[in-house]
Amino acid sequence: MSEVDRKPRLWITRRLSDATLERAARDYDVVINYDDQPGTADQLIAASADFDAIIPCHSEHFSADVVAQFADRLRIVANHSVGVDHCDLPALKKRGIVVTNTPDVLSDATAELAMLLMLGAARNAVAGDRIVRTGAWDSWSPAFMVGKQVTGARLGIIGMGRVGRAFAAKARGFDMEIHYYNRSELPADQAKDAIYHDSVESLLEVADFLSLHCPATPETTNLMNQERFALLPPGAVIVNTARGALVDEAALLDALEKGQISAAGLDCFQTEPGGNPAFSAHDNIFMLPHIGSATRKTRDAMGFRALDNLDAFFGGQTPGDQL
Ligand code: DGY
Repeated sequence: MSEVDRKPRLWITRRLSDATLERAARDYDVVINYDDQPGTADQLIAASADFDAIIPCHSEHFSADVVAQFADRLRIVANHSVGVDHCDLPALKKRGIVVTNTPDVLSDATAELAMLLMLGAARNAVAGDRIVRTGAWDSWSPAFMVGKQVTGARLGIIGMGRVGRAFAAKARGFDMEIHYYNRSELPADQAKDAIYHDSVESLLEVADFLSLHCPATPETTNLMNQERFALLPPGAVIVNTARGALVDEAALLDALEKGQISAAGLDCFQTEPGGNPAFSAHDNIFMLPHIGSATRKTRDAMGFRALDNLDAFFGGQTPGDQL
């Protein structure tokens, strides 16, 4: 095969869906990390000399320091994620490396998980499951495990992008009154009945339930801090399926202990993998291990979207999800 006909050489850093790996193996000279351990800085630097393209997940960190050490071969980082806070975009751009993500295809799966977390946090899922599972359930009373009703309550959404809007659509099924904060007000066909707030503070004052759906950026780091938790209606429930960096975890614990919030549903943590050991003592924190997009349908769709972006790039076009 001549250099012209050669298939682009692709490194896939994690175990993606079978359908994704089959398609990648058909179309690319692919190396798959079946060990499924996160790619280290050294592996990324070495890969930049051996591969034309990488499909990473949010578990691989393309920091400015790592990217500065890249060889010249790597041309595209086609992320298998919508979030790109693991990529230093200016550093990659400076090296002329194209970066793409996988928007849209994971919105429903993530919104479903946000709904699970909201309901589970509101209705004592952690304590309820444990008491039945351990055989400790030996009495019943009308005062037993009384939770907070979702139906008809006010829901505040921070970040009314694709996932935020998908979550709002599901929450309408629970007759929730939807409020949102976004950098800009949405057009009426996207906002539907949702009420816009031009500041986070104004939104928090009406959020009986609060769900975070904005990206992690320097501006949104510790977005939910001590002052902002204090603005929520007493006994509010907070849900985070976006990124752990958005929540000051010490402030969250403090707000729970003071009763400013009654429960939290978290799929994201400041430290991942691992989470926050201090949360384990609190039954009113319902936790999952960053699995918002983890459905079979969505994993295939994410993998195919990353490959669509690669196909466009190597076909001489601008990838649909180029950042
Ligand atoms: C995303 O796509 O950003 C999800 O958090 C999974 O990585």
